Amino acid sequence: MNYKIVVLPGDGIGPEVVEASIPVMTEVGKKFGVSFDFDVRLFGGCSFDKFGEPVTVETLSACANADAVLLGAVGGPKWESLPHDKKPEAGLLKLRKSLELYANIRPARVYTGLAEGSTLKKEVIAGVDLVVVRELTGGLYFGQPRGMTEDKGWNTMAYTKDEIIRIAKSAFELAKKRRKTLCSVDKANVLEVSQFWRNVVLEVARDYPDVKLSHMYVDNAAMQLVRNPAQFDVILTENMFGDILSDIASMIPGSLGMLPSASLGTKYALYEPVHGSAPDIAGQNKANPIATIASIGMLFDNSLGMHIASDYIQKSIEKTLEQGYRTADIYSEGTTLLGTKEMAEKVKESFLQIFEEQPYGFAVA
Ligand code: IPM
Ligand code: MG
Repeated sequence: MNYKIVVLPGDGIGPEVVEASIPVMTEVGKKFGVSFDFDVRLFGGCSFDKFGEPVTVETLSACANADAVLLGAVGGPKWESLPHDKKPEAGLLKLRKSLELYANIRPARVYTGLAEGSTLKKEVIAGVDLVVVRELTGGLYFGQPRGMTEDKGWNTMAYTKDEIIRIAKSAFELAKKRRKTLCSVDKANVLEVSQFWRNVVLEVARDYPDVKLSHMYVDNAAMQLVRNPAQFDVILTENMFGDILSDIASMIPGSLGMLPSASLGTKYALYEPVHGSAPDIAGQNKANPIATIASIGMLFDNSLGMHIASDYIQKSIEKTLEQGYRTADIYSEGTTLLGTKEMAEKVKESFLQIFEEQPYGFAVA
């Protein structure tokens, strides 16, 4: 089987982490009898520099014709003063919207041996394994009316029933496969849109009697995420709240450099590390490729239905970390410091070793 993957390395550290991670993807594919055609395209600031647009019509249509899209990161100080619709971030929003990637899945789990790296206490983060399911194509990011004049700026948070139903279903389905606990986060004590959100989530919940549903106000959720993150399994929330909460959640494992994400719709899927373009360390072979490699793991799982291959990727990351290999963001005394490329190579080596020792997958724990 051959798959068409559109690769959008983007800006800053994006190209480095993507370039380092692709060989892991190719190698895993090879062992499982699949190959990839990579269609590498400019996206974000670098696309603006060349084409005057953060994403071109051609790139959007290539993404719509691919089996999956792999993205690095976009943005940087160079493009900050551009008009709103030319900014690299606008390209990302356009891509999400045009592919209707409404479900953003952002897992945060603590790897054994890395608990020291978190700014939170070890006992607070022990055993944390949660997923933020963020609505990605509605809410404050896309609501109308929006605008800015000399003396006023405004945006609108609005959700239709259908938009809430589909994202709620994604979250319930995920919770069903996990610890069957779902926390829907809103601001229903203040916002009508949130009260509506809550009502619709309650309606959807009737189809999932085995999932334990709770509701939490977003301010409390932000506090609970640093107070006692282990209480969460799946968190469901709207676009803007999810943007903020997923950044908070990302600090639980210690580094943004570890966290993968998938943005899913009914037809298309995009995978990207949660971290940004980190222009301060770009081009120095310092960035952590693990978030990208883990995103590739999610790609195997969700887009190719290759769950076992995805498990191998996860195990390979764990093994590499257990062996004490670290990039600068997760380095501590007594561990071995590696660059971006070298870290990805180690993960590939770990994969080959694990595959040789245990070629038939893993028993379910
Ligand atoms: C994210 C980012 C984006 C967002 C930006 C880059 C547009 O912060 O993916 O979380 O706000 O969604
Ligand atoms: Mg964000």
